[in-house]
Amino acid sequence: MAWWAWLLVQSVVWCCAGVVAVLWWLWITKPHVDIPGPPTLPIVGNVLQFLEHPITVHKIRDFHRQYGDLMRFYAGPKLVIMVAHPDDVQHVLVTSRLVERDPLTTSAMWPFVGDGLLTLNDSRWKAHRKLINPTFHSELLGNFLEAFHEGGLYLSERLASDSAGGAAPADVHTAAFFGAMRSFCSAAIGADPNRLIPDLPEHEVSKAMRRIMGLIQTMMVRPWRRSLSLLRLTSEGRAILMYYAHLRKSVEEAIALRSAATEEGPAKTRRRLLETLVKPGGETVLPVSEVRDELVTMAVTATDTTAVCISYALALLALHPDWQDAARRELKDVFGEGGDYLRAPSLAELASLRVLESIIKETLRLFPVVPMLPRMVREDIWLSKGKVLVPKGAMVYVTPFLTHRLPQFFPDPLKFDPSRFLEGRSGEEHPCSYLPFGLGSRNCVGSQYARLEIKVFLATVLRRFRFLPHSRWEDLEHALLSITLHTVKPIGVYCVPLQESGL
Ligand code: HEM
Repeated sequence: MAWWAWLLVQSVVWCCAGVVAVLWWLWITKPHVDIPGPPTLPIVGNVLQFLEHPITVHKIRDFHRQYGDLMRFYAGPKLVIMVAHPDDVQHVLVTSRLVERDPLTTSAMWPFVGDGLLTLNDSRWKAHRKLINPTFHSELLGNFLEAFHEGGLYLSERLASDSAGGAAPADVHTAAFFGAMRSFCSAAIGADPNRLIPDLPEHEVSKAMRRIMGLIQTMMVRPWRRSLSLLRLTSEGRAILMYYAHLRKSVEEAIALRSAATEEGPAKTRRRLLETLVKPGGETVLPVSEVRDELVTMAVTATDTTAVCISYALALLALHPDWQDAARRELKDVFGEGGDYLRAPSLAELASLRVLESIIKETLRLFPVVPMLPRMVREDIWLSKGKVLVPKGAMVYVTPFLTHRLPQFFPDPLKFDPSRFLEGRSGEEHPCSYLPFGLGSRNCVGSQYARLEIKVFLATVLRRFRFLPHSRWEDLEHALLSITLHTVKPIGVYCVPLQESGL
């Protein structure tokens, strides 16, 4: 062998040996905890158990059955703890005030949404949150009603055209997503939705949204898939990047329009998200790239989440006609049966829809749109009533998907039973056993907005259609474990116009 070839082989061998030695050292010095979890392999830990694609919620349910409410995993040498019991949920999210999201999740989301509330931590997160909180305050909800009503009408039109009088199943997520996007454009940006919604075919956008959840999951479990260059190599990756490029461009146009204004708009609109972040003349309260990324973040979080909840709610009502009838009886009581039955709802009318409210709550219990809340542990914390030490540097995943199905807090947990929420929950419940919008200072900034929008959309379509099942219960359960819960197969329902169904 030539001397240079020998040298090359030696260098490669020593480099590999060096990498293995470092990984081995990281592995043997990894933190240990007294928490049950699946057996590990040296160096990779439990990574191989998460390599299947897609990872669905069944996976964590199986682990939960085996290991209980507190489980430990190793992503390589990194310790990951999954928390289901409300006592521990309370300790992580409320008492210990863990506010930093973990790097696995934030770095997988960053290529798409950039520097916004979802990905930022520390003082930059605080500054963004302080600015954005008031723009979704409950006292502004009345201002959003018209935008929600228009979004609900759009959803109705789309369901009517997709389902051809009830002959074909309609893809609810796509229709609800675009309805929610239209509402967001008017309510938060104050711009004509047709100018802001990316000029792409709707089915492309909705496919991109579903694929992105799978992709984020892959990027979390396989860090080597995080490179943007790799993403561009696949048609799926290119479609997703194209969607975000369009969204960013649309948002930049909105910022430019607002910057071109010479004076403030009417008092009613001054606390809108865009008006808060950009002043007339173009002065911005954050660096302009962060304003853009925040608007993209909010557009994504405000639309996909509510569309997922509405899809699940309609599929569950189709599977439970007794509750669908109860909701419609309530709508008739509130809106009457006269010529203006289909009118836009007022805040007072919406507040009196208690059955519908319970249906939404029960939907979010069974299928919490955000199934896991990831946190970074920056100081040692004690869980399991002080019996288990979780060391600094670990990642903790609070899992509402598991918490909401614990039988001691929700008897017969797999039953869709909105009456659990109808009379107010009984005294047995734990304050942290139900957390669809998270808890603590990093909870959902748009929770009030979301609750009202979902109610308006559902009140609009339930007065126009009878829903019959297409997706089965098993289809609803077959959902991707990602940032938001997405069924592997799109949710479909048959929508029969009410005059035709004779009801
Ligand atoms: C059914 C609808 C929704 C559900 C179930 C939901 C749920 C959640 C949850 C559980 C969190 C906390 C995540 C964590 O603790 O790590 C969260 C955060 C967030 N949500 Fe929502 N959300 C919904 C709708 C919305 C809407 C409509 C908006 C915007 C208008 C929004 C914007 C956000 C943002 C920006 C965050 C990050 C907050 C932060 O890190 O400070 N969400 N959401």
